[in-house]
Amino acid sequence: MLANARSILEIRHVTKQFSRGGETLTVLKDLQLDVKEGEFLSIMGPSGSGKTTLLNLMAGLDKPNEGEVRIGDAVVSRMSEAELATWRTRNIGFVFQFYHLLPVLSAYENVELPLLLLPLSSSERKKQVLNALDLVGLSNRLSHRPGQLSGGQQQRVGIARAIVTDPTLIVADEPTGDLDARSAEEILDLMTELQHGLRKTIVLVTHDPRAAARAQRGVFLDKGKLVESPTAAHGSMTSPGSTNIQPGQPGSASTHFQEKAH
Ligand SMILES: Nc1ncnc2c1ncn2[C@@H]1O[C@H](COP(=O)(O)OP(=O)(O)OP(=O)(O)O)[C@@H](O)[C@H]1O
Ligand SMILES: [Mg+2]
Repeated sequence: MLANARSILEIRHVTKQFSRGGETLTVLKDLQLDVKEGEFLSIMGPSGSGKTTLLNLMAGLDKPNEGEVRIGDAVVSRMSEAELATWRTRNIGFVFQFYHLLPVLSAYENVELPLLLLPLSSSERKKQVLNALDLVGLSNRLSHRPGQLSGGQQQRVGIARAIVTDPTLIVADEPTGDLDARSAEEILDLMTELQHGLRKTIVLVTHDPRAAARAQRGVFLDKGKLVESPTAAHGSMTSPGSTNIQPGQPGSASTHFQEKAH
């Protein structure tokens, strides 16, 4: 299905360096990556290897020292800050490990936030917010604030906020890193559902091999370079130096995601 899909994300010869105390740290070195439209890619790698740095470059939150980042028709690495602000709202859905929800706002209001930056009528906005919260199974938690929700529910609000603008690319940085095993499985079910049901393109950074195994392709970042991991869709995935890694629960990928009974 994806064999002929075009690359929605192209990273070409990207080098990223940081300067610290007079020393230059090269985090990404002449890096190349293609992600096809509708693909679910996982990125693993040691702590400090540059996974978040790479996601930030994809999301236009940072610029490479050399090379080019293209998403759709936009050369992200060449856009001005002003162009990026609007472009990011429309094209990137970011899911964070610690949710980054505003505590004083309700679930509904948190999801609505990105839409306030777009020229939509209030009725269109409402429709999109309700739809996104329905997709993550939280229609019955609209007026709850983050502090009144479980970690898994908060992350689902985070995912609803990421998809509410119908972005070109969803990037998730350790979205299950702060969750218990069951909530993590539910979030992974949801991400799989986003790919299969809504044909979303997803880049997932994770330390968890079970999470990585949900993706149809895996890459491993180390010493500034990406190495393709031998992986089959929803099958076993290995990374260099790792032992046997178990895939996700059988059948979980096709489970229609619904909030559990209350
Ligand atoms: N703004 C910055 N200034 C200086 N150094 C930075 C900056 N951002 C990241 N680094 C350094 O770049 C390297 C890669 O950091 P990054 O956060 O991308 O790693 P990571 O793979 O996401 O790690 P983790 O798995 O722990 O989240 C680290 O050595 C980090 O200290
Ligand atoms: Mg990181």
